[in-house]
Amino acid sequence: MKIVMLGAPGAGKGTQARMISEKYGIPQISTGDIFRANIRNQTELGQKAKSYMDQGLLVPDELTLDLVVDRLAQDDCSNGYILDGFPRTIPQAEALTFALKSQKTKIDYAIDVEVPDDNIVQRMSGRRACPGCGATYHIRYNPPVSDNICDECGTELIQREDDKAETVQKRLDVYHKKTQPLIEYYREQGCMYSVDGTRPMEDVFEDICKILK
Ligand code: AP5
Ligand code: MG
Ligand code: ZN
Repeated sequence: MKIVMLGAPGAGKGTQARMISEKYGIPQISTGDIFRANIRNQTELGQKAKSYMDQGLLVPDELTLDLVVDRLAQDDCSNGYILDGFPRTIPQAEALTFALKSQKTKIDYAIDVEVPDDNIVQRMSGRRACPGCGATYHIRYNPPVSDNICDECGTELIQREDDKAETVQKRLDVYHKKTQPLIEYYREQGCMYSVDGTRPMEDVFEDICKILK
């Protein structure tokens, strides 16, 4: 089962991808998490990516594409995967379709988690992330058991640098311009589904499970 998660920044792609990954036993591949890990490890890729991410801009396709294609070739992807945060531009989607076609396969489900812009800014200010394992929390909607400590791995939670209100607005603008057109792209491919992402996360997950057969 090959799934693409679509949706605005903060719509809940990562939250849902993690739940799908646990239930169906397929890996969650988040390009944002991969870039953030590279930034923490001070790799060359990390340094390049950071300058774009801090401004709320997309990392250029040429830095993103090979990384994903290499990741999809790893053994744990043989039964499928959930792409979270990729593709985000039409050229990325076309490159993915092309790479899959050469293996005689395709994306089975593209799922758009729909949340209006107004809700997004509020959500982002309450988000906390685990730099250890990538788990995501929200101070109000999904708090960790003990204050500011990851339930899964005990690491201290952080606020992402790109979650400042001005940067969130920029990320939303970029989303509408560059990423939203992918909804039409996957509709034409006949695998586009959407869920109401404003509902509680367990309900959103239930809706997604009904789509995945
Ligand atoms: P990325 O890390 O992908 O960020 P994003 O798309 O902006 O999305 P987020 O991770 O911010 O949100 P999410 O939808 O995963 O929501 P979450 O589940 O955390 O990318 C970051 C940057 O990296 C980009 O700006 C770009 O620069 C670069 N990049 C990455 N991929 C790239 C690519 N392919 N090409 C080019 N550049 C790329 O939820 C958000 C919050 O809401 C959490 O606190 C959560 O607990 C809470 N929440 C979730 N669901 C609900 C709910 N149903 N009700 C209430 N609260 C909820
Ligand atoms: Mg995410
Ligand atoms: Zn953790």
